[in-house]
Amino acid sequence: MTYIKSPMNYTGGKYKLLPQIQPLFPTDINMFVDLFTGGGNIAVNVNANKIIANDNEKHVIDIYKTFQSMAIEEIINEIELLIKTYDLTIDNTEGFNNLRNDYNKGAFGFGGSIPFLSQIALFVLICYSFNHQFRFNSKGEFNMPFGKNRSQWNDNIKKNLTKFHKVITGKDIIFTNKDFRELKVDKLKPNDFVYCDPPYLITCATYNEKDGWNEQCEKDLLNLLDNLNSQRDFHKLHWKIPISIIWCCVFVFFELTLY
Ligand SMILES: C[S@@+](CC[C@H](N)C(=O)[O-])C[C@H]1O[C@@H](n2cnc3c(N)ncnc32)[C@H](O)[C@@H]1O
Repeated sequence: MTYIKSPMNYTGGKYKLLPQIQPLFPTDINMFVDLFTGGGNIAVNVNANKIIANDNEKHVIDIYKTFQSMAIEEIINEIELLIKTYDLTIDNTEGFNNLRNDYNKGAFGFGGSIPFLSQIALFVLICYSFNHQFRFNSKGEFNMPFGKNRSQWNDNIKKNLTKFHKVITGKDIIFTNKDFRELKVDKLKPNDFVYCDPPYLITCATYNEKDGWNEQCEKDLLNLLDNLNSQRDFHKLHWKIPISIIWCCVFVFFELTLY
């Protein structure tokens, strides 16, 4: 089985683990909620009637929404135009710094002839950044350094982006930008499935630096999982339908499926 790989090289991305994770999912999912979608690797590879891909990182969700709103040819044209304009290459530090400065100055902000150029510019910056990562300082400025001699827009990213775009425009997939605690557990229905791949308390990524993920978050997530569990028991008691739960110690799954 071949899987779609996110065009974002996301820390903690589960693309490589998909052959192990995906067979654990039920075959009949109504709504799939990917509560910590990150690179979206799981969301784009799941079979469900409807998919909610959520993350509290607004920049990432805005990039996906921008991709959804544009034709793939238009996206690639804009990416390649920016690369040409800034003369971005694998070793042109100055070109990268110029693009980063302009992005941080708001040069690609809303109101221009291409409404979402800012998100495209951010995606290009990520393509050329160290390890294809993104990070913002306290002033909201993109501050990842250039991935000199290592990172650039290339045929692989282009191929991944094209496949990813086909799925996010072809399937019923909605990107949302919320904190996981906002999930409305009581709105979930039989055959809905919640998948949780939170940041790990014991490791570091740009999205859990500076107390971005702490013990309180872990406790709140456990409470949420308990709530999901009660919801599952409610369905079980009232409708007498068997349910299964899958837990994994590092990435935590919760299955709220009734069959
Ligand atoms: C391990 S990554 C998910 C990777 C994803 N499964 C993939 O395959 O690409 C964890 C994600 O949780 C997000 N996150 C961190 N705190 C969050 C919160 N409070 N609510 C929702 N998402 C959060 C981070 O921005 C990050 O994208």
